[in-house]
Amino acid sequence: MAREFSTVGVVGLGTMGAGIVEVFARNGIDVVAVEISAPALERGRATLKGSTDRAVAKGKLAEADRDALHERVHFAVGLDALHSVDLVIEAVPEHLDLKQRIFAELDRVCRPDTILATNTSSLSVTEISVATSRPNQVIGIHFFNPAPVMKLVEVVRTVVTAPEVVADVEALCARLGKVDVTINDRAGFIANALLFGYLNHAVGMFESHYATREDIDAAMKLGCGLPMGPLALMDLIGLDTAYEILDTMYRRGGRDRRHAPVPLLKQMVTAGLLGRKSGRGFYTYERPGSPVVVSDEATPPATEAALADGARAIAKVGVVGSGTMATGIIEVFAKAGYEVVSVTRGAEKSAKVCEALKTSLNKGVVRGKLAEADRDAALGRISWSATLDHLADVDLVVEAVVEELSVKKALFASLDEICKPGVVLATTTSSLPVIDVAMATQRPADVVGLHFFNPAPVMPLVEVVRTIRTSPEATATARAVCAALGKTGVVCGDRSGFIVNALLFPYLNDAVKMLEASYSTADDIDHAMKLGCGYPMGPFELLDVVGLDVSLAIQRELYLELREPGFAPAPLLEHLVTAGYLGRKTRRGFRDHSHR
Ligand SMILES: NC(=O)c1ccc[n+]([C@@H]2O[C@H](COP(=O)([O-])OP(=O)(O)OC[C@H]3O[C@@H](n4cnc5c(N)ncnc54)[C@H](O)[C@@H]3O)[C@@H](O)[C@H]2O)c1
Repeated sequence: MAREFSTVGVVGLGTMGAGIVEVFARNGIDVVAVEISAPALERGRATLKGSTDRAVAKGKLAEADRDALHERVHFAVGLDALHSVDLVIEAVPEHLDLKQRIFAELDRVCRPDTILATNTSSLSVTEISVATSRPNQVIGIHFFNPAPVMKLVEVVRTVVTAPEVVADVEALCARLGKVDVTINDRAGFIANALLFGYLNHAVGMFESHYATREDIDAAMKLGCGLPMGPLALMDLIGLDTAYEILDTMYRRGGRDRRHAPVPLLKQMVTAGLLGRKSGRGFYTYERPGSPVVVSDEATPPATEAALADGARAIAKVGVVGSGTMATGIIEVFAKAGYEVVSVTRGAEKSAKVCEALKTSLNKGVVRGKLAEADRDAALGRISWSATLDHLADVDLVVEAVVEELSVKKALFASLDEICKPGVVLATTTSSLPVIDVAMATQRPADVVGLHFFNPAPVMPLVEVVRTIRTSPEATATARAVCAALGKTGVVCGDRSGFIVNALLFPYLNDAVKMLEASYSTADDIDHAMKLGCGYPMGPFELLDVVGLDVSLAIQRELYLELREPGFAPAPLLEHLVTAGYLGRKTRRGFRDHSHR
């Protein structure tokens, strides 16, 4: 029989604590909610009220239930109020000495059988536990932000946590409607160990002006389907908390430079820019605690104004290539009303592309997404050619041929001879330096990267890559074209992986390393990222879809270009590729897909 928890205590009512109080009270458990001072207590009370009022306004909580919820919460200043609770969860700032002091005090105040839990994200639960005389009753219960919404709880057992305490806490998580993964005490547990290197890397991109905050966030939302971009997430977590987590992970997790907090973070914390809770972080919010972003001096001008800014008029577009990407890109341009010249290496290839294109457009018609007349009009806008000479009068060329530098360079040299002046020349490369391609022409200022995602007709994102020679007009033109295609164009520098792959693949690689170290299972790691961070797929699901060979190649490129030791491909990934386990396409990758 699992132990019955009728009253729990929560210490610290900040970003996490207030949410944890709500989780317990919503599930019929009485809560003693404790803060350090009366004003802090009032802030905590207001946070709880704001959150439950929003839930009522959204129709997710009945008014009567909200009132009952509030009646279950008893607010108090000081730990003495916790003398008779069954369980305490501590959610004070991420400092070891502070947590140790609080645990020593809790040990004195609470009943001998009370379980003492910490919500720490990165500190050692073991080190916290030894500040008490009952380390076997100390455990980590790591909720995710926002606690009332995110389904995951990481239950962290130390080497001395009693098995029945673990079992009781697991049963409690189930009662709260949460999914738990139980793991050992290691810096960052599962989710944060995989998340924070990525978040810090995104801050580094922002700090180095590689891309704007809006573009970094849009890239990860639209390119990977994440619920929030990394900088918006940093604001939600709180920059002070994020700084402490990174700092601890750096020190505890083998001094991985990727966890050394980017200097900008410390500056922002010092300046009081803590994120949502202080009303300003990477973004500016309506008021402290509000989720509503308002414009500030860094907000880009509305799209129309930006588009007028030096963009050249584009009416006719050439697309070179006959693969999946070229076919998708032709469709996207033709549907958006552009006249398109498709150039392939022969009539047979053109016929194949034309067939694939018709199939795709017909699917749109069958699904009711495209009118027959629009399909015919789109097809009517395309002309098919086997020679680059037909690109003499286009305004934009999009190259989507094989991913080989020598082939692309030769092609751009030819385009340089054929195309009229002022044409924007774009490459869809996903891994080659755009500047190499640009320098094969006499007009590098007109060359950009236009990195579409597969399938191009569906994916809403395009990375616009500007090299150190690209002119502002060419960049503006590329961005305007993306908007006209109904896509979001994000502008970034010419580095390996651009924004999305550079942020995504090291995270996937880290997940493989975690599996390889036997810290957790592929299923639990996938669960943790989906339920703790709201990712649409877990890392192993995604690796099997993308292909392990493709992932390894991208990771190798990143490692070679950036020389970051932490980017070294996981040996397990290399072995699986060598063994021919490439993912869904070979019916086996991290998982066996032969029966599905
Ligand atoms: N922010 C997140 O996204 C997140 C997610 C999961 C876990 N965590 C962890 O939760 C813990 C709290 O983080 P947070 O972001 O909520 O911090 P926070 O700064 O928002 O809130 C901390 C609260 O603790 C209170 N406090 C400080 N000293 C206290 C004391 N002696 N007694 C009682 N209350 C005290 C503060 O007044 C403040 O309200 C940290 O260990 C953090 O790593 C944070």
